[in-house]
Amino acid sequence: MGSLQGRDLLSLADLQSAEVQALLNLAHQLKKGESTGPDLRHKTLGLVFRKASTRTRVSFTVAMHQLGGHVIDLDPSVTQVSRGEPLEDTARVLDRYVDVLAIRTFAQSDLETFAHYCQIPIINALTDLEHPCQALADLLTIQENFGKLQGLTLTYVGDGNNVAHSLLLGCALVGMNVRVAAPNGFAPDREVVAKAKSIAQNSEAIVTDDPKLAAQSAHVLYTDVWASMGQEAEADDRIPIFQPFQLNADLLSLADPSAIVLHCLPAHRGEEITNDVIEGSQSRVWDQAENRLHVQKALLASIL
Ligand code: CP
Ligand code: NVA
Repeated sequence: MGSLQGRDLLSLADLQSAEVQALLNLAHQLKKGESTGPDLRHKTLGLVFRKASTRTRVSFTVAMHQLGGHVIDLDPSVTQVSRGEPLEDTARVLDRYVDVLAIRTFAQSDLETFAHYCQIPIINALTDLEHPCQALADLLTIQENFGKLQGLTLTYVGDGNNVAHSLLLGCALVGMNVRVAAPNGFAPDREVVAKAKSIAQNSEAIVTDDPKLAAQSAHVLYTDVWASMGQEAEADDRIPIFQPFQLNADLLSLADPSAIVLHCLPAHRGEEITNDVIEGSQSRVWDQAENRLHVQKALLASIL
């Protein structure tokens, strides 16, 4: 297993299985107070967020503070980025000031530009393609619930989006079976699916348009919004297309009796998930949101 020190996290596929497991173990220790993590008092995390965020922004900020470090909000709307300064130039300058950047943006290629021009580690805090920090928190939540990951089945129903992509890769890395049920035309990216299949050793990575089949005997049912940030104009048109993919009590009844329900949040109750399911006894969404803090602490502790 290579050290994560100094490395970027642009995609979950940047990590090896053992590195994911080590991050989850450290996150668990940090959560339980069995480790305090390194002292990052002279380190600074920069947040470059081009999209809204509650969980990611706050959990990264608190994680860095708890490790003794500092955070600068480099909101692109108030830096020279908004006036057209090239990313290549911004990246080379920020590289000289801060120790790590967490970036939330649209194109994965913008993240790659930062990574190319920066020596410091770059963390994907959500792009249109992936949300790796979310998937790490999801895996921690599943491991806490079941005491293991290998051999379990996660079924994601809905849009084949950034969250679905990182779950495909994350589940494959830890030996979980992963099924994505999405409407025709909204399936996950073929290259990501191929990557997940190539990573999966003794587990399966399946894409289907049949949510009921996908939900059968699953240990985790997961969903996300039907229209992601940047797709708001399509939201109303998508509702009838995605309705059969709603995570509701009928779908949950098909899963394993011990199944848990996850949602990365923010949720649209009555659309991708019903109120009774997200508020029900099988929901773990608040633990899942809390775990963003613990895995990102483990990530910062490991890469800085
Ligand atoms: N799940 C998630 O990334 O939430 P935010 O958009 O609030 O950061
Ligand atoms: N797929 C959603 C996730 C939000 C955390 C989006 O990109 O808007």
